[in-house]
Amino acid sequence: DMGGHDTYMHKEISEQADAVDRVLRGRIDDRFSTVHLGGLNLDAREARGVRRIKILGCGTSYHAGQIGAQLIEELARIPADAEPASEFRYRNPVVDPDTLYVAVSQSGETYDVLAAVQELKRKGARVLGVVNVVGSAIAREADGGTYVHAGPEVCVVSTKCFTNTVVAFALLALHLGRIRDLSVADGKRIIDGLRRLPEQISEILGREDEIKRLAAEYADAKSMMFIGRVRGYPVAREASLKLKEVSYIHAEAYPASELKHGPLALIEPAMPTVAIVPDDDLLEKNRAAMEEIKARSGRILAVAHQVQEKADHTIVVPKNENELDPILMGIPLQLFAYHTALAMGRDIDKPRNLAKSVTVE
Ligand code: M6R
Repeated sequence: DMGGHDTYMHKEISEQADAVDRVLRGRIDDRFSTVHLGGLNLDAREARGVRRIKILGCGTSYHAGQIGAQLIEELARIPADAEPASEFRYRNPVVDPDTLYVAVSQSGETYDVLAAVQELKRKGARVLGVVNVVGSAIAREADGGTYVHAGPEVCVVSTKCFTNTVVAFALLALHLGRIRDLSVADGKRIIDGLRRLPEQISEILGREDEIKRLAAEYADAKSMMFIGRVRGYPVAREASLKLKEVSYIHAEAYPASELKHGPLALIEPAMPTVAIVPDDDLLEKNRAAMEEIKARSGRILAVAHQVQEKADHTIVVPKNENELDPILMGIPLQLFAYHTALAMGRDIDKPRNLAKSVTVE
């Protein structure tokens, strides 16, 4: 049942404020400025012994994991990174007993992720799952973990599950942080930020008409460039994946800092750029990158916390705590991909060549 929406993608994008509310519900502990994650199976002493965190997933879940790794590094100060599960399992990885492995999956059935989990367990590693579908293969195989509580996601193109997965990682990062060196004040700051998310998501979704008009402005593009730095980079990658999956427009994502090392050669009016420009300590660097693009007559659509003079258009999103900004900045670009695909008459819920869950190698 699409509940009055024309596609599941639109329905699922629209559900995100409620979905985020669900992943937060019952988990916040104001007394200790932390969160409780029931199924983690990792006590405080074990959590303190973790030296490194390796996050494994595919596609959108991998991108959510990249943001998750940044959140863990920022809040818990544990070295963390994300890698596509398929790459990991084929490179005979060094499995280290002090590393905590985290498998991320909406369906919980993605074969490459499941096989990585099985290989890790065979080698004696501890693996947590960050999974949406309750009781799925990956959830069962993992030693513990947390459910993402996005609710059923039908559209092949993942939207609400991305957002909820990133929020679930923020909870995990906060939990680990408060067991280690994150202060009460910072814990509280992040909790307050998390609580603001549902309303801020509704505010972004309320701008759909504006985003639809912008999608029409850029619909003539043959190809699009997505750029961001640090917190903005996984957002750029995910937005680029959304656009190509659902509209079949070619898109590339690069760290803004890498532009001058090659991709700048592509910039011309027919190759517009979407720039993720959070109001953080990299704002000036991002402005400089936009200036370089303008100097090559590139068009720019910025997603930012304030109107960007260097950009042709800006989608202004509400500001949260710096660490949590990536959760919100991708949402307008889900709508951007959706409206681009809709105008092109694409099969939005079932893009060509793709399946909702990839249970083959
Ligand atoms: O179910 P999973 O999260 O494990 O799926 C992983 C990818 O196949 C999935 O995210 C894919 O990239 C989506 N089509 C993205 O929209």
